[in-house]
Amino acid sequence: MVEKIKSGIPGLDKILKGGLRKRSAVLFTGAPGTGKTIAALQFIYNGIKEYGEAGIIITAEETPEDIKEFALSIGMDFEKYEKSGKIIIIEKPVTYLKGGITSIKGLLELIKRKNIKRMVLDSLTFFEYLYPPQKFDNIEFRRQVLLFTQKMKELGVTLLATSERTMTDLDKFEYHMMDFLFDIFIILTRIRKGNYFERCLTVCKAKGQEHSLDIYPISIDQRGLTILADQVPFSLVEQEEEKKFK
Ligand SMILES: Nc1ncnc2c1ncn2[C@@H]1O[C@H](COP(=O)(O)OP(=O)(O)O)[C@@H](O)[C@H]1O
Ligand SMILES: [Mg+2]
Repeated sequence: MVEKIKSGIPGLDKILKGGLRKRSAVLFTGAPGTGKTIAALQFIYNGIKEYGEAGIIITAEETPEDIKEFALSIGMDFEKYEKSGKIIIIEKPVTYLKGGITSIKGLLELIKRKNIKRMVLDSLTFFEYLYPPQKFDNIEFRRQVLLFTQKMKELGVTLLATSERTMTDLDKFEYHMMDFLFDIFIILTRIRKGNYFERCLTVCKAKGQEHSLDIYPISIDQRGLTILADQVPFSLVEQEEEKKFK
């Protein structure tokens, strides 16, 4: 029996037939503005609010203040959980974890001390701070990332990372080297419908668990991100209809 945890991302658990496999490493990938950060924040926020699991966010791009302000605008008050030590937000690991690789120890200790169960890496560029490309070649870099994800598993942490890419046309999607290191791989994209884009999501892979392969529409508003797990994207229905009449 696969042990699962609730993702805290509305709609996702239904697609994943119950939730994220516990201790898995999950990657949300997509173009800028597709909702990766919002989904990651919901994973952490609802993780403590609804399921009592403490979380840590490591952000390589925004300040903790920016993150909190953004979260508040979509209905998540991180401040109170931060004060009680249930959510930790760390900016740029280079400032926190001086010395790179050896200092990962500090992070591991923090995870144990605070009983952290959920971790967000927004985004994977985090690893480039820890393992600078000047010092680590591709193979070694990949090995270090793999070791990191394994370490998180050992500590009982479910990891959600984000990565950015420019090419997210689902028909021409190309995998990157890092994609293969994750157990669950989710693409966020936009599909054009006439003169506007519809937000969509699909789960490409979820190791050792059953999941839907459909493409789902997503909505983002002041309440956050919701995957409309009972709907099909209008844009795709329309494309299929057009094909029929050609
Ligand atoms: N309050 C809101 N109402 C509606 N849409 C919002 C709101 N806040 C953010 N968004 C949408 O969410 C997008 C940002 O999502 P984000 O998670 O930061 O994307 P990513 O991390 O993939 O770059 C914005 O481009 C905007 O379209
Ligand atoms: Mg982002």
